[in-house]
Amino acid sequence: MNVIVLQGSPNANGSTALLAAEFAHGAREAGHAVDVVDVAALDIAPCTGCVACSYEGPCVLSDVFGGLRQKILAADMLVLATPLYYYGMTAQLKTVIDRFCSANSSITRKRMKSALLAVAWNSDDWTFDALEAHYDTLVRYLDLRDCGRVLGSGCGTPSMTARSGFPEKAYALGRSV
Ligand SMILES: Cc1cc2nc3c(=O)[nH]c(=O)nc-3n(C[C@H](O)[C@H](O)[C@H](O)COP(=O)(O)O)c2cc1C
Repeated sequence: MNVIVLQGSPNANGSTALLAAEFAHGAREAGHAVDVVDVAALDIAPCTGCVACSYEGPCVLSDVFGGLRQKILAADMLVLATPLYYYGMTAQLKTVIDRFCSANSSITRKRMKSALLAVAWNSDDWTFDALEAHYDTLVRYLDLRDCGRVLGSGCGTPSMTARSGFPEKAYALGRSV
């Protein structure tokens, strides 16, 4: 299986990247090809909402999303990885998801597997409620097949995350897909 991980933190060596790397490690051990893409490092413009693509077709914006779109469409599994930013995903990751617009039907038709990896400073029992609701809605709308989620509460810094049990959980999830 081809797996693409959209790593949405601007910290290339942060807690989200740590979970993404552990997930990728487990998934590679299970025999899958995994591409972890640091989407925050890419110069991807926000969807203009022009809908010239009619929700499926060429996008009027010519930037590196074109290449990423090819990678997503070649994948069997889509993993969203993000730190919690004001109780949602990062703007960088959301920007990429908005650009799914021009491949909406193609992505939906693929019935891709999916997973969510997230970290947050807080550890209230409601910390991830809004993010999970969004993710669950994306799964429903894009006809994804959810394979699981790792919600790293109390993961405010990379050292906190490394000391938590969440990197092992991300590895185990990768190993299981
Ligand atoms: C702009 C911003 C917004 C944040 N919002 C939240 C939040 O709503 N809830 C929370 O628990 N942590 C929040 N955090 C903390 C991060 O989720 C946390 O530090 C995370 O470990 C950062 O992951 P990274 O190392 O991958 O960047 C926020 C951090 C930033 C910079």
